[in-house]
Amino acid sequence: MDSQSVKITQELLRQIAILKDEREAVILAHNYQPPEIQDVADYTGDSLELSMIAAKTPAKLILFCGVRFMGETAAILSPDKIVLLPVLEAGCTLAEYATAAQIREMKKQHPGAVVVTYVNSSAEVKAETDICCTSANAVEIVRSIDRNRPIIFAPDYNLGHYAAKMTQRELILWNGCCPTHALLSTFAVAKARKKWPGAQVIMHPECKPETLELADFIGSTSGMLKYVKKQPAGTSFIVGTEAGLLHRLQKENPDKVFHVASEYLICPMMKMTTLKDVRDSLEKMQYVVTVEEDVRQRAKAAVDAMLRHTGAASPTAIKG
Ligand code: 13P
Repeated sequence: MDSQSVKITQELLRQIAILKDEREAVILAHNYQPPEIQDVADYTGDSLELSMIAAKTPAKLILFCGVRFMGETAAILSPDKIVLLPVLEAGCTLAEYATAAQIREMKKQHPGAVVVTYVNSSAEVKAETDICCTSANAVEIVRSIDRNRPIIFAPDYNLGHYAAKMTQRELILWNGCCPTHALLSTFAVAKARKKWPGAQVIMHPECKPETLELADFIGSTSGMLKYVKKQPAGTSFIVGTEAGLLHRLQKENPDKVFHVASEYLICPMMKMTTLKDVRDSLEKMQYVVTVEEDVRQRAKAAVDAMLRHTGAASPTAIKG
């Protein structure tokens, strides 16, 4: 960074710190956010950890550096707080695969089925759901459901397929996917293994089933952080998830080596947030995330059902 850019960054950081105090705000950042956003945040974590923090924070305002469904989850859990998303257009392609009308139709086709939806879904879809899950607890949530009841799992086919395999249950799967994780091919993993022999391959369960077959470890972003911490110093890893996680992996494990499994593992939505957006968001109080009250209450029941299962989870979210 040249000296002019350093000065601009320092000034933005100064303004953010002042505005944050004035607004009594907490800044949450997902593990895929750009490094400078993770570093300015009060907490960086995975979807589940950030939902849990949003549910408990005493702050008056939650600035959610992530994508829309994450801000919506915070708004669902904290109706008395203002939730801001710094970039209006930051959505999630996976979440767009399911609509509330489609879930209602599916329920009609499978009467008596339990609807499990991944938190990567809209508030309206959550409102049609019995219990939400994240990639950190999908297996555990599916396992907790009565074996005699069919389960509709939406909207991520790959995560659903993985949960079905791990629990030995047949799930009614949706046809959605995360386009970033779905891009990780078996060919790319084989190429990476050849380039970095001896490295362990760690992957997110949003990757395709055939790609997951090649993993040494499969886990959510927090699952990968926990796993890596336990490995001996000097270990190398090929990381099969959005490249943003490498910032935390490297920062928290300076004695280990990380390679992203493919250059395509970039979520354009997660990379939209800049420090200027964070400053503008706090200054102009934009963009407020709202969820219609009836939808919020029904969606909250599904998120609360998930949180009751994961109350004892050991969080990896870090305080900035
Ligand atoms: P995690 O819950 O593992 O952080 O993943 C969230 C996500 O959006 C993955 O694409």
